[in-house]
Amino acid sequence: MKDFAGKVAFITGGASGAGLGQAKVFSEAGCKVVIADVRQDHLDEAITYFKSKNADVHAIKLDVTDRKAYTAAADEVEKIYGSPPQLLFNTAGVNAFGPAEASTFEDYDWIISVDLGGVINGMVTFIPRMIKAGKGGHVATVSSMSGFMASSNCTPYSAAKAAVVSLMECYYNALKPYGIGVSCLCPVGIKSNIGESSYTRPKELENTGYNTNEKTVEFMRKHYSYGIDPIDLAHIFKEGIENDVLFVLPYPDPEKVLRDNFKRIINYTTPEGMKRQEKLDLKRRRAMAKQPNPMMEGAAEAGWGKARQDLTWITKEHR
Ligand SMILES: NC(=O)c1ccc[n+]([C@@H]2O[C@H](COP(=O)([O-])OP(=O)(O)OC[C@H]3O[C@@H](n4cnc5c(N)ncnc54)[C@H](O)[C@@H]3O)[C@@H](O)[C@H]2O)c1
Repeated sequence: MKDFAGKVAFITGGASGAGLGQAKVFSEAGCKVVIADVRQDHLDEAITYFKSKNADVHAIKLDVTDRKAYTAAADEVEKIYGSPPQLLFNTAGVNAFGPAEASTFEDYDWIISVDLGGVINGMVTFIPRMIKAGKGGHVATVSSMSGFMASSNCTPYSAAKAAVVSLMECYYNALKPYGIGVSCLCPVGIKSNIGESSYTRPKELENTGYNTNEKTVEFMRKHYSYGIDPIDLAHIFKEGIENDVLFVLPYPDPEKVLRDNFKRIINYTTPEGMKRQEKLDLKRRRAMAKQPNPMMEGAAEAGWGKARQDLTWITKEHR
């Protein structure tokens, strides 16, 4: 898709971080934008901003895990704009950190229901409507580099994001005949509010195995402040959408990033490769230990990435 003027863009998680960056950039490109988000305070702040710009932006309070509410949101878009969106951004996401072996069912249920389930709900709700409308369009989904690189201190997140990468490749091929493109953004660090994810965690899923409290949230606010600016990221995503690129990696040399990354998977396929990878991991850990990393300052003091204290099966160093 190259011409955005007059197109309807529906953006989940559109009231903060990467989603808000997309709302700003695609609104400036001429889209009528719908921002759908579970946080009313984020929606209110975003709408105040867009009103001051006289932009055609409509807010819907939506929890992407709620399928009935998703259908109602899709109906609302059609009622207001007379058409389903031509641009669907599956951007809403949450994260939590702790050792894999500390993860509870609720950690999985919450993170997977938003980060994978939310994308599935977006696709199942909107794709039939987009096909029926016959106007073509583009699906733009935010995964993460975690979708390619498993990280054992955010296991449910890595699993959900890897599934999203696979899901988008499936839809990329399936939707071509309908003139609907698919792009999947895989960033690393975004300047955003994702460190506050625990604020939107449902009560019935609050049982976590991770050490999550105001100190860890405070650490993450600082940690993510070093990330890429959401407006810059949205421009990179826009270029990927314009060029119909499936995996949009916001790095100067995306091919090299993925080639290096897939070396790891290849190494994991033979006993010799396993040894090679062990050496590489050790070398990487030593190099990282030598380099001061401002993004990780205060992590240990905050107890970030640790397990809950009472999980006695976890080694002391990890709780
Ligand atoms: N921040 C990073 O470093 C980073 C890196 C890679 C990928 N990502 C991905 O980028 C996307 C956007 O995250 P962000 O970093 O901009 O965070 P953010 O918290 O600033 O924005 C996410 C928005 O999604 C909303 N949201 C959360 N749960 C929701 C739900 N159930 N229904 C509807 N809305 C919900 C939040 O209220 C928030 O406004 C996510 O998919 C995230 O996984 C983030």
